[in-house]
Amino acid sequence: MQQRLLEKIQQFKKKRKAVILAHNYQPGQIQDLADFCGDSLGLSIKASQTDAEVIVFCGVRFMAETAAILSPEKTVLLPEKYAGCPMADMITAEQLRQLKAQHPGAVVVCYVNSTAEVKAESDYCCTSANAVEVVKSLPANGEIIFVPDRHLGRFAADRTGRNIILWPGYCASHVVITEEDIKTAKAKYPDAVIMAHPECTEPVKALCDKLLSTGQMLRYAGQNKHGRFIVATETGIIHALQKQNPQAEFIAASERAICPNMKKITLEKIFWSLEDMQHKVTVDEPIRTKARKAIDRMVEILPTE
Ligand code: 13P
Ligand code: SF4
Repeated sequence: MQQRLLEKIQQFKKKRKAVILAHNYQPGQIQDLADFCGDSLGLSIKASQTDAEVIVFCGVRFMAETAAILSPEKTVLLPEKYAGCPMADMITAEQLRQLKAQHPGAVVVCYVNSTAEVKAESDYCCTSANAVEVVKSLPANGEIIFVPDRHLGRFAADRTGRNIILWPGYCASHVVITEEDIKTAKAKYPDAVIMAHPECTEPVKALCDKLLSTGQMLRYAGQNKHGRFIVATETGIIHALQKQNPQAEFIAASERAICPNMKKITLEKIFWSLEDMQHKVTVDEPIRTKARKAIDRMVEILPTE
């Protein structure tokens, strides 16, 4: 049954001249099916470079929107219309305009986990992989506003020593990971390296060894193939880590760290998406052109890790 479905997806993928991109938090079978899996930065770069006519984005809406902003001539499909990112919805363009009015002259950096309208109000976009490098590239003495994730913003402030005005957004799937979770895992596996995503809370991050985007976690584990790792981020990444490093051991810091929106994508929905060319994600002008400036800066500033 599943084999048949996989065959039908491949058939329609060819017919539509489509590429399937998947985020590292997607269910394992979708990661296995995708032409390319990656973190938000890797996926944005891939979406801007592909020569496919159709991009099926297995992730959440802001990711598909980013692809549509970068490649307006392509058809971008999100297999589940309601796969959103609650963090991205924690700030509106109007709220950002009000914040900017309170800090005239501040440079605005927005996490890619934001709406196209918020990106259009921002000077720079960044992902968890290059937030530090983006902030570092800004003039030394000016004010910086960072939206919407206060935890990634705090991380960038700590690493750069810059004073950053933070918006109080957060990712519900990361803040469920507690200090207790890390301490328990550490006591059980004292030899393990603890990798955490910068979206985790500050007390959790203080207990961890490496703070990395999901793509950076894959690269780091790849350099230490026989190790044991405690992983403090959305549990979908364990599939990719284990697949690429079968000799190593990966333990989720918390089994509760699941993003329900990422898990809304299924094989059936991917097939229907290709069959019916649904759900098209587009970004209207002039929002697209404005947002594109911030995204172009994001894909130009590469991480050092
Ligand atoms: P990265 O894969 O870019 O680290 O992103 C994490 C995330 O929360 C995506 O929604
Ligand atoms: Fe948004 Fe968090 Fe899900 Fe990423 S893991 S899509 S930040 S809710």
